[in-house]
Amino acid sequence: MLKHVDRRGLLLGVILMGLVWTPLYAEEANVNPGINQYYYDAEFERWVSVFERPGRELYDKRQEIVQALGLQPGMAVADIGAGTGLFTRLFSGKVGVQGRVYAIDISENFVRSIEAMARQQGLDNIQGIVNTDKSTGLPASSIDLAYLADTYHHFEYPRTMLASIHAALREGGQLVIIDFRKQPGVSSSWVMSHVRADKNTVIQEVESAGFKLIADSDLLETNYFLSFIKRDTQ
Ligand SMILES: C[S@@+](CC[C@H](N)C(=O)[O-])C[C@H]1O[C@@H](n2cnc3c(N)ncnc32)[C@H](O)[C@@H]1O
Repeated sequence: MLKHVDRRGLLLGVILMGLVWTPLYAEEANVNPGINQYYYDAEFERWVSVFERPGRELYDKRQEIVQALGLQPGMAVADIGAGTGLFTRLFSGKVGVQGRVYAIDISENFVRSIEAMARQQGLDNIQGIVNTDKSTGLPASSIDLAYLADTYHHFEYPRTMLASIHAALREGGQLVIIDFRKQPGVSSSWVMSHVRADKNTVIQEVESAGFKLIADSDLLETNYFLSFIKRDTQ
């Protein structure tokens, strides 16, 4: 009789462990299959005319955005999803010769073009990284700021990328996310169908990945601008 009860207890324990373990450690499913298909072999000049065009809020307000980040000489900053390098170039001047800007993108064409532009313009503190869709490619504790402009909604594996960003940040490091507001009845139909998550969902996802929201700026209209600090543990 006792043996029978013991066996049932053991079985129950195994089932419970499975229930806890699976959501925590199971490989994340792709939440956005195909969203980056145009970027992998992107033609650089074509995308300059998309990302760096007057009328795009992030382009029109680029100086104010950079100002609000409060970058200091000597900082190490990662522009994750750097695209055509719009922000990478601006960060370069702010962190100066002692600092470093990592231009990180899954698109090799984007990264190689940013590197070529940096060489031409003598911006020696820019380093390109062609990353994977699951990792920043950065060493652990190597950056002070991770910056995502219009990129979080392009993450196919957001939980895995957030864990990688968390590991790359130094103690007290920050994560800034600028992305489209998704508001039914207000946002365009393109935003409603293209952007996966609204601001509150993003805050929840990021906080459960080991970050704490420290600022929610209203600098921008069609985009939100969130700042998080790395908590000690995930
Ligand atoms: C809409 S663009 C934004 C480019 C730039 N941040 C800007 O605002 O001009 C999104 C970029 O994110 C990149 N991307 C998508 N998933 C990524 C990932 N997991 N890691 C790094 N870059 C990624 C894409 O290749 C693309 O260049």
